[in-house]
Amino acid sequence: MFLCDLGISETKGEDSEMKMLVSMGRGGVGKTTFVALATKYFIEKDAYPLLLVDVDPDQSLADMLGIDIEKEGKKTISDLLIETFIKSGGTTVGIPPSERIESKIWEKGLYEGEYFDFLTVGPKWLEGCYCLPDAALKKALEVMTKNYRYVLIDSPAGLEHLNRRITTKVDDLFDLIDPSRKSFKHIERAYRIVKEVKISFNNFYIVGGFRFPEELGEEIKEKTDLKFLGKIAYDSNVEEYTLAGKSLLDLPESSPAYQSVKEILKKAGYT
Ligand SMILES: Nc1ncnc2c1ncn2[C@@H]1O[C@H](COP(=O)(O)OP(=O)(O)OP(=O)(O)O)[C@@H](O)[C@H]1O
Ligand SMILES: [Mg+2]
Repeated sequence: MFLCDLGISETKGEDSEMKMLVSMGRGGVGKTTFVALATKYFIEKDAYPLLLVDVDPDQSLADMLGIDIEKEGKKTISDLLIETFIKSGGTTVGIPPSERIESKIWEKGLYEGEYFDFLTVGPKWLEGCYCLPDAALKKALEVMTKNYRYVLIDSPAGLEHLNRRITTKVDDLFDLIDPSRKSFKHIERAYRIVKEVKISFNNFYIVGGFRFPEELGEEIKEKTDLKFLGKIAYDSNVEEYTLAGKSLLDLPESSPAYQSVKEILKKAGYT
């Protein structure tokens, strides 16, 4: 408990220019696609350097970007944590835990691509709070992410692991929502979860998923005081590319899904 309570230095430095964007939402709503298309946008804008962090145990972000992390010989952060703190027994002379995991991540975990770097958190390897590795990882990532202009995080449905492992402070949260009439309930819940897991953020944006009916957008604007940025357009190419394992970075400029993500990001201030 001690380390969990005290060992985490949570915030980015005042001088850091880095911005952290996180997707959230229910299963299958299009979170990973959103992050992949946002990546395409930042690449197009020459907004480097770019770090992508895949927190989803399914690791579908890499697939959508056409990279095979395992083939590239890169290890997941989960593997590296086990290697560093569990297998090695957790004691190494002199070097603080966060520096040990940081150097491991640089060396063995970070995929360095032409346009972006990529980290995979890996499967949920341990339940509960593993204070030392979790605190060490947070601290290491805090240092590492400062090297980037934008850090994009693709998360699975919950955000608990994000808070525990990765960060407690993000700039923009993009909550993708379903078409159902339960959308409003979902928004309330999502907002509450973010508060409950104690993630601080500058903006909590609502984004309509590709199945979201346009007209509900107006209601969201009226009924909540959260910022609704528009909806992601349905695009059969997205489905086809995903099924065929083709990189979404190669979608044509005219792709409706890409164009709408572009507009959404512009509305969020990424011009
Ligand atoms: N704009 C779109 N147009 C058409 N199909 C889409 C669009 N966005 C996503 N899809 C399809 O919907 C499916 C789910 O998308 P995606 O994996 O991005 O969702 P997710 O929210 O990340 O899912 P999970 O909760 O499993 O991580 C994929 O098959 C994808 O191809
Ligand atoms: Mg996903």
